[in-house]
Amino acid sequence: MVDALALVTHLSRRDAYAELFPQIQSLLADESDLIANQANISAALYEAFGFHWIGFYRVQQDELVLGPFQGPVACTRIPKGKGVCGSAWQQAATIVVPDVDQFPGHIACSAHSRSEIVVPYFDASGAVAGVLDIDSARLDDFSAEDQLWLEKITALLR
Ligand code: SME
Repeated sequence: MVDALALVTHLSRRDAYAELFPQIQSLLADESDLIANQANISAALYEAFGFHWIGFYRVQQDELVLGPFQGPVACTRIPKGKGVCGSAWQQAATIVVPDVDQFPGHIACSAHSRSEIVVPYFDASGAVAGVLDIDSARLDDFSAEDQLWLEKITALLR
């Protein structure tokens, strides 16, 4: 697994996702524990792409609470509608932010974060159960390609 992940750094991001997706699928196939699966998704994406921060926030009553992640320490609780994560939860839709300084209300957990993508995941009833948050130290680092693959990956969390 580790060797295979190292390989994807030589590929375009699209090819890297195409290679990584079946590996993540098989990682999750025999495991139903949400925390374990979120931990492995975080590690796999972090290893493959070297993002600044990647992790999950889980809906707990009226706020998001930090879950498994890779990267520097992060804010633990985000109210609904606040920041990019709380907005993605409220809208039940992916948000791509090319420049975090231009996003009103962005919650700056790290000064190194320049762009980000937040992808909600859903429970069996279709309600948002949490979000996957990825922060990059590069401006404008996320595209529709990332959105497509990350939505496929979060859809595995059922
Ligand atoms: N960027 C997020 C806050 C979480 S940290 O970046 C890990 C936001 O504005 O929602």
